[in-house]
Amino acid sequence: MEDAHLSLDPAFEIAPVNRRLFGSFVEHMGRCVYTGIFEPGHPSATPEGFRGDVLDLTREMGVSVVRYPGGNFVSGYRWEDGVGPDRPTRLDLAWRQIETNRFGLHEFMSWTDRAGVEPMMAVNLGTRGIQEACDLLEYANLPGGTHLSDLRIKHGAAEPYGIRLWCLGNEMDGPWQIGHKTATEYGRLANETAKAMRLVDPGVELVLCGSSNSQMPTFGAWESTVLEHAYDAVDYISLHAYYEEDGDLGSFLAAAVDMDRFISSVVATADHVRARLRRTKKMMLSFDEWNVWNQARYEGREQGDFEEAPVLIEDTFTAADAVVVGDFLITLLRHSDRVSVACQAQLANIIAPIRTTPGGPAWRQTIFHPFALTARHARGTVLRVEPRSPLLDTARYGEAAQLSAVATLDDEGVTVIAVNRSAHEALDLTADLRTLGRLRLAHTHLLEAGADPHATEAAVVPLANAQLDGAQLRALLPAASWSLIRLTFTGADPA
Ligand code: AHR
Repeated sequence: MEDAHLSLDPAFEIAPVNRRLFGSFVEHMGRCVYTGIFEPGHPSATPEGFRGDVLDLTREMGVSVVRYPGGNFVSGYRWEDGVGPDRPTRLDLAWRQIETNRFGLHEFMSWTDRAGVEPMMAVNLGTRGIQEACDLLEYANLPGGTHLSDLRIKHGAAEPYGIRLWCLGNEMDGPWQIGHKTATEYGRLANETAKAMRLVDPGVELVLCGSSNSQMPTFGAWESTVLEHAYDAVDYISLHAYYEEDGDLGSFLAAAVDMDRFISSVVATADHVRARLRRTKKMMLSFDEWNVWNQARYEGREQGDFEEAPVLIEDTFTAADAVVVGDFLITLLRHSDRVSVACQAQLANIIAPIRTTPGGPAWRQTIFHPFALTARHARGTVLRVEPRSPLLDTARYGEAAQLSAVATLDDEGVTVIAVNRSAHEALDLTADLRTLGRLRLAHTHLLEAGADPHATEAAVVPLANAQLDGAQLRALLPAASWSLIRLTFTGADPA
């Protein structure tokens, strides 16, 4: 068995834990909205028609921010269709759906209130432009006294919504996107839209579209061009990434190394543009779509009938998927000096931690567990943990550290989160806690995929072998596993 080591020191700070890293995404796609979060008549439905069981699970998961209404859907969306008493039924060209518009802005905002999450809105820069983006912002955020803000009041929302986070379109580099643009076309449009939106409401935080994924032929060049155009007008550039096993478990378990390199590449590109433009502002990152998605099984939606709330990409996740999702969260935390927003895609039914049956139950998928536990116990400040780890050789991603780990430090204690990426070998982990003061083990959690990586259930059990010997933490991490160890300062109550 191989050894790995961490050193924790309160002086090795990365950044405060940003709650916005525990975001999710609700798109008008398949059954994410209809029969996912919204199902009037469901036995658990709230008076507004929201599924109460899904609201409970969303709160249990610790979701902080929810991006809406797309995704590819937003690039053909007319936001006005989703407000007021007359809701036209339309074709959604992105997913070949019939959109009834029963759920729109007001319903989403009431849902975010009930779920206790922050909204993150996307504007349509595919088929629409500056005027419609400003109109939506005026409708949502102005207190009153203008046509559109008064219309919101007339539609029942007396107070402005005060939405801070706004995405300037979605995946505009992708040829599949309705209204797909070149980097120059998009960079100019995004810059002008951002400038105008700031005139409507100077308090907004704006996300520029980066590449749809790091395999796009224009990746890197796209970021550089759009940032050149819009650097001063935006706060974040977006990243999207989905990973799948594709027959090679060893590589899949190390997929987070690719996420790590992707983030570093976008940071490098943004900083290069900053240098060229001679700016001081640091561009932050919004990883607003990430997850495991078995795209090999996805047949696309270019043909066939238009349907209302079709069953689309309702992937069933495995124990190995949960370990990889746990590793993605470690990676996002380790980059929290630059990644300030992250949204797992999506929340319900569509490649989601929460699944539902229409009229029936809602349940947690395997990937729910590492998300919920990380969101609950990663708090305070993210620490650099200076890992020493054996290396794995993977076919898809090359060399990868066998250990992936992060730690957070708060007033009551320390949380260590670790993944053993080897499919077969356990890892003997020690962590030096000498500089942290007197601690005791509070609780431990283990999710293991080694014995049956493709099991569609994953129990979270205590990591029974974890021990604290003076200032040294020791734990045996089983092959293909995710663990969370919570230590509390002696004198403080266990959390
Ligand atoms: O999350 C599913 C889809 O994946 C989104 O609509 C799109 O933005 C991405 O390609």
